[in-house]
Amino acid sequence: MAMDGDTRPNDLSAFWMPFTSNRQFKKQPRMFVSADRMHYTTSDGRQVLDGTAGLWCCNAGHNRPKIVEAIQKQAAELDYAPAFQMGHPKAFELATKLVDMAPAPFEHAFFTNSGSESVETALKMALAYHRARGDSARTRLIGRERGYHGVNFGGISVGGIVNNRRMFGTLLTGVDHLPHTHLPEKNSFVKGQPEHGGYLADDLERIVTLHGAETIAAVIVEPMAGSTGVLLPPKGYLERLREICTKHGILLIFDEVITGFGRLGSSFAAEYYGVMPDLITCAKGLTNGVIPMGAVLATKQIHDAFMQGPEEAIELFHGYTYSGNPMAAAAGLATLDTYAEEGLFERAAGLAQYWEDALHSLKGLPHVIDIRGMGLIGAVELQSIPGAPTKRAFDAFLKCYEKGVLIRTTGDIIAMSPPLIIEKEHIDTLIGTLADVLKTLE
Ligand SMILES: Cc1ncc(COP(=O)(O)O)c(C=O)c1O
Repeated sequence: MAMDGDTRPNDLSAFWMPFTSNRQFKKQPRMFVSADRMHYTTSDGRQVLDGTAGLWCCNAGHNRPKIVEAIQKQAAELDYAPAFQMGHPKAFELATKLVDMAPAPFEHAFFTNSGSESVETALKMALAYHRARGDSARTRLIGRERGYHGVNFGGISVGGIVNNRRMFGTLLTGVDHLPHTHLPEKNSFVKGQPEHGGYLADDLERIVTLHGAETIAAVIVEPMAGSTGVLLPPKGYLERLREICTKHGILLIFDEVITGFGRLGSSFAAEYYGVMPDLITCAKGLTNGVIPMGAVLATKQIHDAFMQGPEEAIELFHGYTYSGNPMAAAAGLATLDTYAEEGLFERAAGLAQYWEDALHSLKGLPHVIDIRGMGLIGAVELQSIPGAPTKRAFDAFLKCYEKGVLIRTTGDIIAMSPPLIIEKEHIDTLIGTLADVLKTLE
């Protein structure tokens, strides 16, 4: 409670907001108070078109009846059940539904509460997998420059976004990084997968030579890097990574926290690109963003390596109080049903061409130096203002918001990833508003 002499500037001060310029925001807050399907309502009663599916997570749009009802019902039926040495039916049902939806090699799901936790879980699984097989020198983890794998220590160690790393000490040891795949001089305004850069996967051979294959546990990449500004995998790149990993007994982890659940027009990017990793991390769209939940999908081979020894032994000393939480499981089941019943992944695939054409209509507008996209995801990169990086894109974000459209920015890149229920008219509004705003930017 505020006390006399309280120096806090307003009643927004207690909440230390994540990844936000707190002081700037609290002077001029932007608040959503409700949402329905493609739109948010702001605290001053305006409608804002959701061009970002919240934070890449509300793939079925907002206020979806089946999900709302499932959560309401679940709260009254079973609010919580212990996650360790106890179970409840919906967690098992959801795991089954999830692996049924995923590409064939994935037969098991481990539940977490976020993308960051899914990443930590997958990295630990990879280390423990080798250890369980007696290959215990495999302790190195390989990430990629510009990779985003959440904000926990494992994730920022293998991640490659410098601002997310530099304040936090020495991070995990035994980590190395592949080069990122962004080659603007060769691949700008590309439609579909870029032609150039597949060879960058060969850098893994250099890393193997440097450290010895027998010391490397896993490589983790986003099949399509989202948070760093929508970097698409060049043709042949993922295939080559897979080949090199297989050749050297290294596990391949796809971080599909953004690309999972229809974003590219198929269940997962693994399916979209036809390249199968050994582990997949996911979150966000798993529950339509409504209740925090993530998962790691494992192949039978990985899972079965743990199922050895005495039956009473705990096979993996890892888990969370809320792993498979009943409310989250109920939300997940209703979400996956909604995707299937409404054919939303196919819908996204069907809209991809319209989306791409709309995005590329922005070519030639002031400051636009690149446009890229895939499925229902798109990025517009702006020339930075000299000495003021990020300002131009953030100004675009603010102006779009004022005009009733929500976009996202990272650096001077505008990223969009609308709910998969988006209609063509919404795409026209989203891209049309952005076009108007681009013309007014400094
Ligand atoms: C690829 C990837 N991994 C991990 C995360 C972290 O997820 P969370 O914010 O749920 O921890 C994100 C979030 O955007 C992501 O894009």
